[in-house]
This record gives sequence, C-alpha cells and structure tokens, in this order.
Amino acid sequence: MEGPLLMLGLLAALAVCGSWGLNQEERLIRHLFEEKGYNKELRPVAHKDESVQVSLALTLSNLISLGWTDPRLRWNAEEFGNIHVLRLPSDLLWLPDIVLENNNDGSFQISYACNVLVNPTGYVYWLPPAIFRSSCPISVTYFPFDWQNCSLKFSSLKYTAKEVTLSLKQEEKEGRVYPVEWIEIDPAGFTENGEWEIVHRPAKINVDPSVPLDSPGHQSVTFYLIIRRKPLFYVVNILVPCVLISFMINLVFYLPADSGEKTSMAISVLLAQSVFLLLISKRLPATSMAIPLIGKFLLFGMVLVALVVVICVIVLNIHFRTPSTHVLSDRVKKLFLETLPELLHMSRPAEAGPGPGALIRRSSSLGYISKAEEYFLLKSRSDLMFEKQSERHGLVRRLTTARRPPAGSEQAQQELFSELRPAVDGANFIVSHLRDQNNYNEEKDCWNRVARTVDRLCLFVVTPIMVVGTAWIFLQGAYNQPPPQPFPGDPFSYHEDDKRFI
Ligand SMILES: *[C@@H]1O[C@H](CO)[C@@H](O)[C@H](O)[C@H]1NC(C)=O
Repeated sequence: MEGPLLMLGLLAALAVCGSWGLNQEERLIRHLFEEKGYNKELRPVAHKDESVQVSLALTLSNLISLGWTDPRLRWNAEEFGNIHVLRLPSDLLWLPDIVLENNNDGSFQISYACNVLVNPTGYVYWLPPAIFRSSCPISVTYFPFDWQNCSLKFSSLKYTAKEVTLSLKQEEKEGRVYPVEWIEIDPAGFTENGEWEIVHRPAKINVDPSVPLDSPGHQSVTFYLIIRRKPLFYVVNILVPCVLISFMINLVFYLPADSGEKTSMAISVLLAQSVFLLLISKRLPATSMAIPLIGKFLLFGMVLVALVVVICVIVLNIHFRTPSTHVLSDRVKKLFLETLPELLHMSRPAEAGPGPGALIRRSSSLGYISKAEEYFLLKSRSDLMFEKQSERHGLVRRLTTARRPPAGSEQAQQELFSELRPAVDGANFIVSHLRDQNNYNEEKDCWNRVARTVDRLCLFVVTPIMVVGTAWIFLQGAYNQPPPQPFPGDPFSYHEDDKRFI
C-alpha cells in the first residue's frame, strides 16, 4: 500500500513542483532533520521540565509497540505532497531507551534495527519485533499441578520518571478512551502452547513511591502472565504408572511365603520405582529450594516400598522358624493366632477340637497319628502284627473287629503275649515318635500362621497409607488453582471484556 502511495506522492510532487526536482519525502526529511536541526540526543519536549509520555502495549506474538509524540517531527502534510507516514530508521531518532529489566539473555535493549513510523502530528510509532526472554522464577512445589506468575518488566534505562512518563497504550471505542490493561492476543499470530494455558494477562504501570522521581526504578510498565500447566502429560506418563507400580507392592503381602518370590517381587517394585524417579528427575527443574509434589509422592512411595522389603524379610524369617530354633511364647500365640486373625477377619483352619475329624483336617502328620491311635484301639494285637503280612501274601484283608474273646487256654495266651511284647513296645515307640514329630510340625505350622497374620496385618496397614498418600497428593494438586483475579485483593479483572474508560 505504502509503495504505490509514495509513488503517487512522488509523481504528484514532480507535477506540482517539478522545477525543484526533489522527492517530497526527501525534502521533508531535509526539512525535519536539517532545517529544523533535529538532535536525537534531545528529548522531544519544549521545556526541560516537561516529560515525554511513552505508551507501551504488548501483543502475544513477540511484539511490543511503543509510541510517543515528538513535536519536532511535525509537518504540514499539504506542504509536503500529502505525505502522511514517514518511515525512518530508528537510529535517526530520539528513542526512549525502554528495556526489558528482567530479561535473561543479556539483551536489555529492544531491537533497534527496525523502522519507525512518524505521523504529521509528530506521533512516533515503533513496533520492534523482538523475542523477549524474560526470567521467570518458577516455583516447582506443586509440579505438575502448578501455575506460575511471570512478568515482563519494561522501564527506561536512560531516563527518569521526570523525563519520560510511561503509560499503557490507549485505544478508543465509541468515542471513549480506555487504556489497554492487558496483553493483547493476536489470534492470527498466536498458537496455544501445549504445556501452558494462559489464565490472566494483565498489564500495569507500577509506580514505586518510595523511590524518588528522578532516580531509575520509580516507574515501570509490567506485563504479567499468569499461566497454568496442563498436567495431562504428566498424569498419563508419570503419575498413573507410578501409582500402579506403587500399589503393586501390596501384592507382596498376598504372596505366600513358600513361593519364595516375596523378596524378589518387592525388590522388582523398588527397582521400577527407582527407574521412574530417574526419568522424572530429568524433567524437573534442578532446584533444591522445594520438593515438587510428584517428587514427594515418589519419595513417599519409595520409602514405603523399602519398608515393605524390610517387612518382607521379617515375615520370611518368622515363616521359616522352627521349634528347634525359636520358642513360640503363649502371648505371641494368643495375639497372632487368635486376637489378630479375628480382628482381621482371616479365615482360620478349624482349631483342634474333640472330634477326630477336625484333627485329620489339621495336618497330614496329625492325621497319621490319629489313624494310628484308632488302629491301635480297634484292632486286636495279633491283627495289628500280622495284618500287613497277610495282605502281602495275597490274603484278603480282614475286617477290623472289636476284641474277640480269647481263644485257647490262658497259658497259651500269656505265652503269646510275652512273645508279642517287644513288637508292641516297638509300635508304641513309633507312635510316640510320631506324636513328637506331630507336635514339632504343629508348632512350625503355628509359626507359618504367625507369618501369615503379620502379612495380612501389613496389607491392612500399608494399603490405606498408600491410598491416603496418593489422595493427598492429587487433592493438593487439584486445590492448587490460580486465583480468580490477577492481583489478589484487586477485584478488577484486567481483561479486554472489562474496559476501564477514562
Ligand atoms: C504476580 O506477581 C505480582 C508481583 O510480581 C503480584 O503483584 C501479583 O499479585 C501476582 N499475581 C498472582 C495471581 O499471584
């Protein structure tokens, strides 16, 4: 647009004052800079005490715009062939030396390589394209459920508040003027960030009354960006796997000790967690100022899992105890075999009762001994001696019968009995040995059951701790929301829907 306009202007100028042979624009520049003696070192004011009003606005596509009025750059458009816009290199003009104070790459200055537009009224409009790298102190406490308060603070490096007054850009709507108290978003030039969502974007002039007017730092224009992290990525890729892995540790208590897999499972979970911690620590800002929420959760999980590994070893120790190495005291027995199983609603094998049926169910060795007792009671002694033998010789197994009345004379019976005595003694010995072994096994069994009770107790303790810990982390994250207004205590929203007309 400007090209053809200027060309037209040029043609018109040639037609009107052809004899001059000079481009109108050139003439204008010569007029402004040579005839009027423009000095870019001087502020555009008539009086030394006046200040230049510089307005700022920020658009979210790396654009800042500045504007001020320089009365020395006024011209009469008609006099100069209707030139309404003059493009001048910025190094020809006075510039307010606005810098981004909290930059982080050392380039304080806004790019000066760009052209400045000047109106016939002397209004200078400057739109330096720039990539602002501002430092933003990120607080990682609630990572990844955090929001941040970042700011871009602009102030004049060279001039004090007495010489240059900073203000926000003003715009007009339906004849009324309002300051642009927000960061503008140009929908064409703005792409939404995948990680951050903009919650508030106010702009404010900050005046510090404690700093004297003629020293730098009295005034600044600050653009704030209050942004919230979108946590989905971290939830899906880190938190959910973490929670799953952590909850896996509860299964260790469910695994029977005889399988020999308890410790290896606990250690596997610990390892998986360590790998995750390694992955996450790479994604976190390396700071020791605060532990992020996710780090706390992982640490909590790891401490718990480490504890479970220890418990696991203790449980295995209890499980493999024998009467020859440990004494099972009655108090322990009562606590772990009666009180706790009842409290924990554990299924208990039937206790040793009067009936033989219960005994048989208790354990295989107990079954044997009761069988033996039964046999001994019901069978005649000779039956007891010769039954197996006759079976071996292919004779039919005789029915077990109650003692029959003795056959033959008293003496013969006595003789037979004395002959049988060693055999009966042998049988008695076997029975008592079996009884001893049974007692031994029974106590071993008790140790197994104590271990099982401890396992169940830990399952019932660790699971709620895990649930509460996880819920606590997620709730803390959910409640960490940015405030509804950009400045706590200030009810104004600083949004374009809410203009403050002057
Ligand atoms: C953001 O920080 C500024 C100061 O840097 C403060 O005035 C403002 O209240 C903060 N905003 C929020 C929402 O915390």
